[in-house]
Amino acid sequence: MTLLSPSRCVSRRLCRILLANAAHYSNAEPASSESATPKSSRPEIFKLDGKEIRTDSCWNLSNSVLTLLERQLLNEPSNPLNLLKQRIVNHVHQTYRKPGGRSPLFTVCEREPRVVTTFENFDSLLTPADHISRRPSDTYYVNQDYCLRAHTTAHEHRLIREGLDAFLTVGDVYRRDEIDKTHYPCFHQLEGVRLYAADQLFGTAGINQHPILEKTPTERKPHKQEKIAEDASNALQIQLKAFLEDLCDAIFGVCEKRWVDAYFPFTHPSFELEIEYQGKWLEVLGCGVLEQKLMEMAGVPDKVGWAFGLGLERLAMVLYTIPDIRLFWTKDSGFLSQFEGKSPTDSIVYKPISAHPQVTFDVSFFLPESVQFNDMTSDVYDTIRNVGGELVEQVKLMDEFTNKKSGKRSQMYRIVYRSNEKSLTKQEVNAVHKAIEQELVEKFSAVIR
Ligand code: PHE
Repeated sequence: MTLLSPSRCVSRRLCRILLANAAHYSNAEPASSESATPKSSRPEIFKLDGKEIRTDSCWNLSNSVLTLLERQLLNEPSNPLNLLKQRIVNHVHQTYRKPGGRSPLFTVCEREPRVVTTFENFDSLLTPADHISRRPSDTYYVNQDYCLRAHTTAHEHRLIREGLDAFLTVGDVYRRDEIDKTHYPCFHQLEGVRLYAADQLFGTAGINQHPILEKTPTERKPHKQEKIAEDASNALQIQLKAFLEDLCDAIFGVCEKRWVDAYFPFTHPSFELEIEYQGKWLEVLGCGVLEQKLMEMAGVPDKVGWAFGLGLERLAMVLYTIPDIRLFWTKDSGFLSQFEGKSPTDSIVYKPISAHPQVTFDVSFFLPESVQFNDMTSDVYDTIRNVGGELVEQVKLMDEFTNKKSGKRSQMYRIVYRSNEKSLTKQEVNAVHKAIEQELVEKFSAVIR
């Protein structure tokens, strides 16, 4: 069963496919809250990522999307999306090497300008002129000819034209969409493209028996395009599916997967991959054999290739059990601290944070004379957690120093208190904080400063 139908908009659709819960979206379309957001006042010139574009009456960027453009979550080292991106990139770099094995096969493109032409976002990808994804209610337009990229596929035509045969494109993409647990006007995609000359697909010995292109185009069939030879189309599908199944195993561990037929204007045949997660089937990506017309337009008529696009939020929500897409944007340290200092391969299970405000208190003390810094730290953490119990959300050692004259060692810890049930008052927290200090004094002879 597929959720896609050719009449549906690839742009808005894919956001849903990649981010949504299938059952939810088989029902009616939810109302778009974002389209109700007022436009920002239009600047004469819009500057973004080194481009300067004169706006016109098509401008429909809201103030909120302008704010989102500034944040750049993938540049934040501990953001879960960044951890996941690195995990995927590392896997691809380790698994696919250039002949000889000394360097990675795939070029990673993560600094592409986020404002693109409508040719890049739509026409170069064979998106029909009347396609729903072009509507100003779906896409953010800077002017008639420029928009914010709605998918990382927007860079494909140019990158292929510039000579890349194997690349990953990563970045934030923008769609005018509703805001709820699985939709946000900005989300992040990771795209992969691989092109093959005849010998790269079949080996030099095989190319005579297996040409990659038809001498005379056939009719289009469910499993092949007019110009791509049957063997080549099959080989591409095998390579593409193996690449993606292997990637999923590397991220999620060995898991149940299934392929579902799909439609995209720029690939044929097209598929989605679903994985079984906690008893449910989830769509995690869209992919397919690149339309040969796209290859011809990009100046590479004699190669064939495949592409895929996956939604990083969708995967990260599953991988780290993050229940709401809006959390990726929070600056709440209760969220961020759970990913801080983690490496891409660490398994992290996100623990929901409370909606009530945090209260932060510091504790500073001198250690007893013979006690070293390291001897004390875990005792302090344990004491804070034992006495503070559920109210302690985070504890961090912020500072330690030895006084040159007296030789006394001092430490400072920052404690973030927060309750799941209610907003805490300073007095309530102070009582707990004092009890912690007391315990540190009595048990470990700390001298509070
Ligand atoms: N660009 C598609 C989307 O998000 C995903 C995709 C990429 C599908 C590459 C097939 C090939 O809308």
